Amino acid sequence: MLGIGAYRPQRVVSNAEVCELLDSTPEWIFERTGINNRRWISGDETIRSIAAAAGERALKNTPIDPTLIGAVILCTSSWLKLTPHGAPSVASDLGLNGVAAFDLTSGCGGFGYGLGVAADLIRAGSADYVLVIGAETMTVGLDKSDRGTAMIFGDGAGAVVVGPAEENGISPTVWGSDGENAEAIAQNLDFQAFQTRAQELQGTDPAVEPVGQMSLRMEGPKVFRWAAVTLPRALSAALDASGVAKEDIEVFIPHQANARINELMKKNLGLADNIPMANDIENTGNTSAASIPLAMEEMLVTGKAKGGQLALLLGFGAGLSYAGQVVVLPPAPSETSF
Ligand code: UT7
Repeated sequence: MLGIGAYRPQRVVSNAEVCELLDSTPEWIFERTGINNRRWISGDETIRSIAAAAGERALKNTPIDPTLIGAVILCTSSWLKLTPHGAPSVASDLGLNGVAAFDLTSGCGGFGYGLGVAADLIRAGSADYVLVIGAETMTVGLDKSDRGTAMIFGDGAGAVVVGPAEENGISPTVWGSDGENAEAIAQNLDFQAFQTRAQELQGTDPAVEPVGQMSLRMEGPKVFRWAAVTLPRALSAALDASGVAKEDIEVFIPHQANARINELMKKNLGLADNIPMANDIENTGNTSAASIPLAMEEMLVTGKAKGGQLALLLGFGAGLSYAGQVVVLPPAPSETSF
């Protein structure tokens, strides 16, 4: 990873504000998730604008000519249309019109998948440099009264430029999925059901909203249990695949789903107490596929981590899927999201 950039939406939303619509308390939210604040898009911020803003910063923070970028991978579950997908528009906003550009949807594990694909594209010679963007606007379609999701999710975007190196800086990806339990994190309606419901409601009662709300549902405790069993094994496998000893890991950057899951993973893996672990969730919330590059940026900007250090990454979520690697961290960015 040669450079990193991120974008945090302007609007900061506290637990107290979330509790204006949600039957919960700021204390409960912090105690059970580790979240105090999250960012929500506002004004003219959109999934497209925040993805491009993060990508632009990553390009500015990377000492290469941007025209060398051969592919843009947009890791997201928030792009509002399946057709056209988002990456070509974002690439064009970045002055990269014409490059290979595709979306990668793998829930909160999306950035890990995208990083793995980018590294493999470069190793195979399909591209020299790849821009990987994780961007989410989780609040579009968030049911702000749903106790299982409303307090957790936030919006944001992070991006890295991946390129060739003398020494391997991204280990083989360790990844997997559990489709038997995929419904544990799911939209309440698919497009067809949404359309049917819209037709059913049309003209029945003027007081009824013309369409049902399409929103995300999560069986939190079930996901938590899956994470507790599956992820420590995934982390060990990532270390084995990288050939790096646990003792040599200098930074731990797991997906920011829940601070309690991360503490458990760190403990179960046996990482030393003094290894810095990302805790961007406290003020950014869970930003799904954007959380790892956002957390990485925060650690580099604040000095909790340094460019060149060895970091263990693990993304996980919908699918239920996960993807992790051992990486060499990019240099601290000069253009930051703070
Ligand atoms: O990013 C994708 C991957 N996602 C994850 O990894 C998420 C994993 N899961 C979680 O983070 C947690 O399961 C949640 C934060 C979603 C929920 O926390 P929990 O500790 O698992 O709560 P719970 O659902 O087991 O509920 C515990 C108690 C219940 O009350 P009783 O039965 O003990 O009296 C719930 O009714 O907390 C209550 N509760 C709430 N109280 C206030 C559940 N949700 C809320 C809420 N506010 N929002």
